[in-house]
Amino acid sequence: MTDDFDYQRAFSRNIGWITESEQHLLKAKRVAIAGLGGVGGAHLLTLTRLGIGHFTLSDFDTFDIENFNRQVGAKISSLGRPKLDTLVEMALDINPDLDIKTLPEGVSPDNVEDFLSGVDVYVDGLDFFVMPVRRAVFAACHRLGIPVTTAAPLGLSTALLNFMPGKMSFEEYFRVEGQEEAEQYLRFFVGLAPARLQQGYLVDPARIDVVAQKGPSTMMACDLCAGVAASQVLKILLKRGKVLAAPWGLQFDAYHNRLSKTWRPGGNNHPLQRLAIAVGKRQLMGMNRPASAPAKPFTPRTPAEKVLDMARWAPSGDNTQPWRFELLDEKRFVIHGSDTRDTVVYDLDGRPSQLALGTLLESVDIAASAQGLKAQVTTRSDADERTPTFDVALHAADAVTPDPLAPYLPVRTAQRRAMSSRPLTQAEKHALEACLPAGYRIRWFEGWEGRWQAARLMFANAKVRLTMPEAYPVHRDIIDWERQFSDDRIPEGAVGTDPVTGKLMRWAMGSWERVRFLNRYFLGTLPPRIQLELIPGLRCAAHMALVAPAPPATLEDNLGAGRAVQRFWLTATRLGLCLQPEMTPLIFARYLREGRTFTHAQDVVSRAQRCRDQFDQLLGEAADKAVFMGRLGESALPPSRSTRPGLDSLLVKPSPPESAGG
Ligand SMILES: Cc1cc2nc3c(=O)[nH]c(=O)nc-3n(C[C@H](O)[C@H](O)[C@H](O)COP(=O)(O)O)c2cc1C
Repeated sequence: MTDDFDYQRAFSRNIGWITESEQHLLKAKRVAIAGLGGVGGAHLLTLTRLGIGHFTLSDFDTFDIENFNRQVGAKISSLGRPKLDTLVEMALDINPDLDIKTLPEGVSPDNVEDFLSGVDVYVDGLDFFVMPVRRAVFAACHRLGIPVTTAAPLGLSTALLNFMPGKMSFEEYFRVEGQEEAEQYLRFFVGLAPARLQQGYLVDPARIDVVAQKGPSTMMACDLCAGVAASQVLKILLKRGKVLAAPWGLQFDAYHNRLSKTWRPGGNNHPLQRLAIAVGKRQLMGMNRPASAPAKPFTPRTPAEKVLDMARWAPSGDNTQPWRFELLDEKRFVIHGSDTRDTVVYDLDGRPSQLALGTLLESVDIAASAQGLKAQVTTRSDADERTPTFDVALHAADAVTPDPLAPYLPVRTAQRRAMSSRPLTQAEKHALEACLPAGYRIRWFEGWEGRWQAARLMFANAKVRLTMPEAYPVHRDIIDWERQFSDDRIPEGAVGTDPVTGKLMRWAMGSWERVRFLNRYFLGTLPPRIQLELIPGLRCAAHMALVAPAPPATLEDNLGAGRAVQRFWLTATRLGLCLQPEMTPLIFARYLREGRTFTHAQDVVSRAQRCRDQFDQLLGEAADKAVFMGRLGESALPPSRSTRPGLDSLLVKPSPPESAGG
């Protein structure tokens, strides 16, 4: 095999950007890389393809599944294997003539001189959290006159620093000497990327776990790092182009489309850096709390578990999830439904809960199809209206094709914030109408006039909700304050208010008296109504009403409507559109139509009556057949959303058989 290899031909396509003589020079050089994880592995392969002939490599770690997102050596065949062996094999597979010296015990202050012996450039590939080793390696390079290049993967960016012989050292730049461990890491972080271009798009800050020394990472950043670092190696070894040395730094961010060159004389002693460290201390150190041990995710194994694990992402009013599951065997289970009529003023007839159960049943069908199975659902006829119960059997059936909506089950989510007002295209509207079960249709409220009418209705209706004493405990209990994700409620981040209004709302929710006080003297309903209804009601592509073939009357009618809702919502998600339900005007209009008492406040009844007139006018002949309303539009997925408990938490034990006599 090695006979097939010809260095000159293998790397001949480098020639042009470098000369043949320069290529030979690169072949003669030795590059040291400590750490062969995210950046180190990519550095090795990039430099191998550049034609570097000699490497000194160190890494004592083995590959784990969590390395798959970014480490070039992490693959099924290398799971559990030493990173060093794997990367050496990969590099030799590109250039079998490579001369590689390895330190399988990893680099340490004791062997750093040996590690750097004969090395022309050191490229840093060490993990972020190995400060003592990093300091020892950088100090030795400085002492031995070895250039160092370090490219840090931050978000979707690379932040470059070179430490050149005779110039500023690592210690002079980062100034970590004598600092506590946590502050050393903060200083390292702040010094790596003075431009901080990666800030502003971290969507889940809780994923930075200072205690567990873990943080989010991307392959793109590692690839950018490899390209930038190898370019430095080329320039340093061939004495080509200008090499920026610390205190100069360079960061390119592919997310913000920005490049920033920074100059921080004095390194972390520079006033801007001191400020950044002070701010960082407040922010980062706040995270330095023991992270609660994340629950071990439940791994579904049987077909029934796999189907339910996907279906549990079905939507329900206020994320109440009025269902529990009883597993009977690998392909059979029972869905125990419930409703919230005793506690939720929006669910007095259990209909929204039944609608949610319909979305669940549709999700079961879709998830089963992804397993090549068909779900046979039987509604138990003896179950109480408040506890609908379903027996589900999964059957292997010929010609079951996976529903293309299946991948979107866990993606679909409510988007309560403003969306793009780009109108829906004919193709989008057609797809949204075509996905519905027979007999269902959509009424669209589009254009400025249509959106204004719907937004006005929502704005007026929100006053009904916010001034109704019966709705107060519902609102108080469903918001999970100061949370980005919530398994059983709506996290504050997903509500759609700005932080100030959010704080005010939280204070007001302390008691109904506070709500009344704000409403009466400070127009308390205005900020949330403007932020949650009026603005997003106008900033969307369209509002819609899902219209059933006939006014729904039975459980099966409501389940069917729920199925249609889920198909519509998933189809929107598949099209890259987000959706926000707007159910309450419809619910109050129905209560009034059916003469149901839902509040004892007479002023609220009159307000609701006016909303009903508005609703009837908007919907026309479809008013009593509308089963769902919402607004939709193009939007990124919201970073904050309701989540679900693991399937294991939604399982109930089989009910004991009834005694013969009873
Ligand atoms: C029948 C039904 C009615 C809903 N009504 C509303 C509503 O009026 N306002 C709202 O903000 N969300 C509404 N939702 C959305 C739920 O709050 C949301 O689906 C739930 O919190 C789960 O979050 P997710 O959809 O982001 O997974 C409704 C959902 C369903 C299924």
